[in-house]
Amino acid sequence: MRIVVTGGAGFIGSNFIQYMSRKYPDYELVNVDSLTYAGNLENFKDIDSLANYSFIKVDITDSEQVSQLFSQRVDAIVHFAAESHVDRSILDPGAFLKTNVMGTQVLLEAARQHGVGKFVHVSTDEVYGSLGDTGTFSENSPLASNSPYSASKASSDLLVRAYHETYGLPVNITRCSNNYGPYQFPEKLIPLMILNALEGQPLPVYGDGLNVRDWLHVEDHCAGIDLVLHQGRDGEVYNIGGNNERTNIEIVKTILNYLNKPESLIRFVEDRLGHDKRYAIDATKLRSELGWEPQYSFDTGIAQTIQWYLDNRSWWERVRSGDYREYYEKQYSSRLGDRL
Ligand code: NAD
Ligand code: DAU
Repeated sequence: MRIVVTGGAGFIGSNFIQYMSRKYPDYELVNVDSLTYAGNLENFKDIDSLANYSFIKVDITDSEQVSQLFSQRVDAIVHFAAESHVDRSILDPGAFLKTNVMGTQVLLEAARQHGVGKFVHVSTDEVYGSLGDTGTFSENSPLASNSPYSASKASSDLLVRAYHETYGLPVNITRCSNNYGPYQFPEKLIPLMILNALEGQPLPVYGDGLNVRDWLHVEDHCAGIDLVLHQGRDGEVYNIGGNNERTNIEIVKTILNYLNKPESLIRFVEDRLGHDKRYAIDATKLRSELGWEPQYSFDTGIAQTIQWYLDNRSWWERVRSGDYREYYEKQYSSRLGDRL
């Protein structure tokens, strides 16, 4: 099987390639990524030399580059490539529409023309919008995006559905809750808080810190996608989520506690615009149809993740240089002022 993994140099994509390359040494895994600020080939230090892995630099919004890619056989596509950070989508929505909507359509069209056997579109629980204090998102919950990021993902989900309904393309959509684990870019809550705590910098918690996310270890997400890729019924949506609801302030305190750092580092800052209150995923369909079970408890997963950042200082020091600094200042200078 020759599988194209788009966005394979990002957080989840690189974990997925590592997971698949260990589990299926006979598969050919082609990492297709344009290497934006979030793409990092250093995530492959350990597997670069493996015969079953290769990298091709391709921008998925460029139909000529994508069509070149299909000059060789492609059995399946697992599509992670996206602009993925909500805060950046609030600062600059355009890039999200281009990659997440148009890029997905370019890939779908190529997949249709070349008769690709499976197109797995990796989406997010954010397309369902925000929950109150109770209830969960099922696959039948209405799409109700609240951020430009989420709206771009919901739009791409609809395109994927349309390519199935109209052309019969064999697709699946997965919608996962918040991931954490090794190689996550430090603009997202957990790595940002780990690194700021390590350096004794303020920890910027939006609003009252009581927004809730449903955390899943990235390896459990990868295992879910693997099952959908091999056994998912064509045209179906599968939710993926770990039943690990935590408020943001609980997460931040857990990190401080693990690192033995004082809670006086916490700063409650101006809230995110349109901030979704709560996400919670019902993954019954994936569990009962495909037998998926997460392996990580949150306590084990968060400890492993914090330890990974402690052990991989050179990785995060490099990704935080340059562009990251500029983004951090734009996002946090008015929130943290001279404590930045
Ligand atoms: P990420 O930002 O870490 O990685 C995205 C990757 O896509 C990067 O390697 C980047 O270089 C690449 N990319 C961006 N634009 C591209 C383009 N035009 N052409 C080719 N490559 C391009 O994102 P992530 O957190 O790994 O998320 C991966 C996918 O999973 C996304 O589609 C996201 O919506 C979805 N998702 C993420 C989470 C989460 O918690 N992180 C949860 C559910 C779903
Ligand atoms: O739910 C799945 C989604 O999870 C994915 O689709 C997205 O790609 C991924 O980025 C993530 O979105 P969130 O917006 O939930 O994740 P983020 O890490 O940005 O924020 C998590 C929570 O923490 C959210 O309530 C906002 C809050 N937060 C975040 C940052 C970066 C803070 O309080 N302070 C911060 O500095």
